[in-house]
Amino acid sequence: MKIEEIVTLGEQYLMNNYKRLPVSFVEGKGCYVTDTENKTFLDFIGGIAVNNLGHSPKAVVEAIKAQAEKLMHVSNVFWIESQIALAKILVDHSFADKAFFCNSGAEANEGAIKLARKYAYKKYGVNKYEIIAMSGSFHGRTLGTLATTDNKKYQEGYGPIPEGFKFATFNDIESIKQLVNENTCGILIEPVQGEGGVTPVDKQFLMEVKELCLEKDILLIFDEIQCGIGRTGKLFAYQHFGIEPDIMSLAKALGGGFPIGAVVAKEEVATAWQPGDHGTTFGGNPLACASGVATMKSILDEKLWEKAEEMGKYFTKKLQVFVETYPWVKQVKGMGLMLGLELEIEGASIVEKAFQQGVLINCTAGKVLRFVPPLIVEKDDIDLLIDTLDGIFIEIEVE
Ligand SMILES: Cc1ncc(COP(=O)(O)O)c(C=O)c1O
Repeated sequence: MKIEEIVTLGEQYLMNNYKRLPVSFVEGKGCYVTDTENKTFLDFIGGIAVNNLGHSPKAVVEAIKAQAEKLMHVSNVFWIESQIALAKILVDHSFADKAFFCNSGAEANEGAIKLARKYAYKKYGVNKYEIIAMSGSFHGRTLGTLATTDNKKYQEGYGPIPEGFKFATFNDIESIKQLVNENTCGILIEPVQGEGGVTPVDKQFLMEVKELCLEKDILLIFDEIQCGIGRTGKLFAYQHFGIEPDIMSLAKALGGGFPIGAVVAKEEVATAWQPGDHGTTFGGNPLACASGVATMKSILDEKLWEKAEEMGKYFTKKLQVFVETYPWVKQVKGMGLMLGLELEIEGASIVEKAFQQGVLINCTAGKVLRFVPPLIVEKDDIDLLIDTLDGIFIEIEVE
């Protein structure tokens, strides 16, 4: 089908909740995707930090094919071997002792919030339910996760938003201390904020938050949905800071492109859930977990976080040249291959121009160009992106 026809049909049959670019992709390999007109694009969005192994990674494709032919779905009232295998991988390589699987990032954060509340409820009763989230946060679009997402526009028109959630200033310990009371049950933090502008957490801040959590028996919850699975130069971003959470949410890259989310937690916290306390029909089904196992094995076998670190350094250096060259380019932000270029101008028109030139990037928080390419990206790909941006930047006139 021609793109014009796809757009017409899409507008007729799909809800209008996304601002879509006029393109439809039919194939993807590595860092590149090809559209219906046979034009190839360099992809530095990677499904928004999903395609860490690149598009259609062979190991994941084969695992999905083999599993689909055997058994795709059975209920969680039965034991699922690949679910246990994926849980073991996550436990073996993180602070966690137990895992629960779901289908998306928002669902993982819902689970994390519910688990924190249940733990506090069982230990302290009905009043210890408050969760403190951070300014600039994004945790998802369900009602519960919207309550922890610091974006008025996303909340508008959906009230009443569930209560029991407060916002502290990201990286400001005093603002957390002002909000903490005997009813606080959890503090929810993205170790590197994604939608909020690609901003890493400050180590000192995190250390003080952890101390506060230990002192007041508050659970520390890390949302590693965007920054996890090798992206920042460690398997999990929290490993940069030497501070372990009690609960962590994962999704996006965990399935190599197949939808899957997870909540992982320390034993003492995880046991707050007993049969019937939480659930999902599809979460952790054989097909999703086969893709998760194949994805995690590839990431671990290839130590892809090391590649993210190495390419991230190369990429950062190149982006830094823009900061020195163009007065309206403010700074490079982020870690590993989760990078942002903060501008003094809106980034939308740059995204549009890059798209026209066959390069996919996106913009977050209005003025931060965000780069979350597959972790298998090579120097040549980074050079192509940099050259394309330079060609666009040089034409921009800012008063
Ligand atoms: C940090 C973070 N948490 C949660 C979510 C929500 O994930 P999902 O869109 O899979 O519900 C996102 C999605 O962008 C995210 O970046």
